[in-house]
Amino acid sequence: MRARITKAIFPVAGLGTRFLPATKSVPKEIMTLVDRPLIQYAIDEAREAGIKEFIFVTSRGKSALEDYFDHAPHLEEELRRKGKNELLSVLEETYMESGAIAYIRQHRALGLGHAVCCAHRLIANEPFAVILPDDVIAGETGCLKQMVDAYQETGGSMVAAMEVPPEKASSYGVLDVKEDMGSLVSVNGMVEKPEAGTAPSNLAVIGRYILTPDVLRTLRNQESGKGGEIQLTDAIAAEIERKRNVYGYRFVGQRYDCGSKAGFLQATVAFGLAREDLRDELAAYLEEMVATRKAAQ
Ligand code: UTP
Repeated sequence: MRARITKAIFPVAGLGTRFLPATKSVPKEIMTLVDRPLIQYAIDEAREAGIKEFIFVTSRGKSALEDYFDHAPHLEEELRRKGKNELLSVLEETYMESGAIAYIRQHRALGLGHAVCCAHRLIANEPFAVILPDDVIAGETGCLKQMVDAYQETGGSMVAAMEVPPEKASSYGVLDVKEDMGSLVSVNGMVEKPEAGTAPSNLAVIGRYILTPDVLRTLRNQESGKGGEIQLTDAIAAEIERKRNVYGYRFVGQRYDCGSKAGFLQATVAFGLAREDLRDELAAYLEEMVATRKAAQ
């Protein structure tokens, strides 16, 4: 039996430029799908997977994110006084155990790999998870829980993988597949944002990882790569070069790229339609919109 993964790093220090001007003062991870911020979906997925320590790599201007996990005694008191027990339990779901959250600063946005590396002192010598909160994954079982269960069999490092159309491959890290075993693939190499037509497969890496502490050691001495950023993909690729096992995991679930405007809007509609209290009204509105649009064409 392998040790359980109990620590997760949440890199949230990026500039979020695709959502300017909103991200001038609102961290991207606080933006809401219906009524829950992106970070809450990520935390819930981590908890389901057995994570006990939550390490946020933050930066300037992210204080709203830190405040979000604080208890709100005045608000609680008011809700209790008014007998709003349902809202009280909504609030309680956001509370974290004292000492379960750590915040580390990334002083400059030097890349995802650099952000992960900033947390190295809190990881010490154990495998850990990385969750990018702007990849929101809907499904019956959380993506990280699926990966943690698979990791019990495989060990090594593991990345969440998803089939993408060839024309989209150059937006992702792409796996060079050694052996396809169904949900799991073993990996020969990884290429960050390959030039059009050069992707080694259609399996793209998305924002969930289980990594060995060796990846952190590699990151500490790593030069910048694609786009002048210190890339996490390069450090994982170095593991493969050292003949260590790296796997891709084809998760079951629908992934939304909430770091992009189109993905965020799609997720908003999907999560709205999944809510019983909103479904009918939203569906009727969407149908009307589509009909009006068609009539105007
Ligand atoms: P993105 O590539 O989406 O970058 O980062 P971004 O800055 O968040 O957004 P855009 O592209 O400017 O709109 C992927 C993840 O890596 C984190 C981000 O916070 C996000 O969760 N990240 C990226 C860091 O923590 N530090 C970095 O230096 C870069």
